[in-house]
Amino acid sequence: MLWVKAFHLIFLVSWYAGLFYLPRLYVHHAMSTDAQTRERLQIMERKLFWFITPWAILTVVFGIWLWMLQGWGFNAGWLNLKLLLVIVLVLFHIWCGKLMFDFRKGDNPHSHVWFRWFNEFPLLILVAVVLLVILKPF
Ligand code: HEM
Repeated sequence: MLWVKAFHLIFLVSWYAGLFYLPRLYVHHAMSTDAQTRERLQIMERKLFWFITPWAILTVVFGIWLWMLQGWGFNAGWLNLKLLLVIVLVLFHIWCGKLMFDFRKGDNPHSHVWFRWFNEFPLLILVAVVLLVILKPF
């Protein structure tokens, strides 16, 4: 069980490193007008997105494994809320992929200010999830 938890956290940190950096690349992309820079950013975005996707899958797989080992089912309120937030985080990840494709098509999907706010979203989820799993308030 402790090994599973340890790897759940290792995969989570790896996933989050990318989730924090990918929208930063979008901020630069949305600000850039130079074709060569945009081309380079697009390559970096594609590589980073596909690099972190396996970490996302492994975090979820190891989380579900832990959940089954603990045997809480749907009886723990904090865990139910956490699962909901994880679904939102996975949707955020998929949205990041869609934005990557939009940039690749040559579109500028949103302003750099919009991406700065977008960048804060995974942090809010992280704070909420960590407080839920550590404090287990309900
Ligand atoms: C379907 C996905 C997931 C499931 C089913 C899941 C389930 C679990 C379970 C059952 C535990 C053990 C809790 C305990 O023993 O007290 C745990 C630990 C933890 N999870 Fe997840 N998790 C998932 C995804 C995530 C995500 C996306 C995050 C962060 C945003 C996260 C953050 C954590 C943290 C920080 C711990 C450590 C708690 C401790 O030290 O006891 N998990 N997870």
